[in-house]
Amino acid sequence: MNPNNMNSKRTSYVHLHPFLRWAGGKKWLVRRINDTLDINSYSSYHEPFVGGGAMLFHLQPKKAYISDMNEQLMLTYLNIKDHIDDVIALIDGYGIGEAAYYDVRKIRTNNPIEKAAQFIYLNQMSYNGIYRVNSAGDYNVPWGKRINYQFDFDNLRKVSKYLKHVRIESMDFEGCLKRIRKNALVFLDPPYTHSKIENGFIQYNQKTFTLDDQKRLSIMIDKIKSRGAFYILTNADHVVIREVFDKGDRVIPITRISGIGGKNAQRGQYEECIFTNTNITL
Ligand SMILES: C[S@@+](CC[C@H](N)C(=O)[O-])C[C@H]1O[C@@H](n2cnc3c(N)ncnc32)[C@H](O)[C@@H]1O
Repeated sequence: MNPNNMNSKRTSYVHLHPFLRWAGGKKWLVRRINDTLDINSYSSYHEPFVGGGAMLFHLQPKKAYISDMNEQLMLTYLNIKDHIDDVIALIDGYGIGEAAYYDVRKIRTNNPIEKAAQFIYLNQMSYNGIYRVNSAGDYNVPWGKRINYQFDFDNLRKVSKYLKHVRIESMDFEGCLKRIRKNALVFLDPPYTHSKIENGFIQYNQKTFTLDDQKRLSIMIDKIKSRGAFYILTNADHVVIREVFDKGDRVIPITRISGIGGKNAQRGQYEECIFTNTNITL
C-alpha cells in the first residue's frame, strides 16, 4: 500500500492515523488495500460504522460523511473538529500516571469539550483501551500502566484540519442512506455477529449486532446498489453471513492471524471476508 500512489492526483496528502484504540479497528486492512481503490473516482464517501476511522484517515476523501451509533465517540469527533485547542489543552493538563488517571476517571461533566478530552485520555490510558461502565453508568476500567505514553497532539491537529471537510453524525447505520447518491462509495465495517455450534444449532453472539441487524444491512446494500453507488463490506467469513450478503458481487476471503475468540475459538469460524461491487483487490 502506498498512500502517495493511491492519492497521486492529490497534492496535499498528509499522513493521519486513528487517535483512539478501537475494537475491530481496520488498520491492518488499510495496509492491504492497494492502488485499485482510487478514492478520487467516487462522488462521495460514507462510513456509517466509523469507530476509530482507520479507513477514513487512510483514504482522506474530500467529501466524506461519517457516523456511528456511539454518541460519545461522535461527540469526540465533533469537538476535535471544532475545538481542537481546548481539547488538547485539557488532555495536556491531565498529566500522566496512576493518580492522574483515576482523577480523570472521576470527572463528571456536561461540558462537551471536556467529555471529548476525557474520552480520548481514558481510551489511551486505560487497560487495553476498553470502554466499560458499571450499572451506575460509571466508567470502571483500571489504569493501563502506560507510564511513558505521549499523546500525539500533532496528529490530533492534523485530524482536526482534515475533519473540517467531514460531516459527522451520531446515528444508526441506516440513517446514512439519505445522503447516498450515484457513484458514492460506502465503506461498511459493522460489528461481526459471531456464531458457534451448540447442541447442533448455530448460536449467535447477539449482544451488539444481531443477525437481524445484518439482514437490515443487507437490504441497505440493495438500496445503495439501486442508486448506482458502490459498497465495500467487511464481515465474518461464515456460511450464514455469506448467504445474507449474497448479491452476485465479489467475495474476497481474507486470511490473517487474529486473536478474536481467544484460545478456545473454533478456527475457521472467525475468518473474515470482503463483499464488494467495486474492483478493488487485496
Ligand atoms: C468494527 S467497529 C468499526 C471499526 C472501524 N472500522 C475502525 O477502523 O476503527 C463497528 C462500529 O459499529 C458501531 N455500531 C454498532 N452498532 C451500530 C449501528 N446499529 N449503527 C451504527 N453503528 C453501529 C460501533 O459503535 C463500532 O464503532
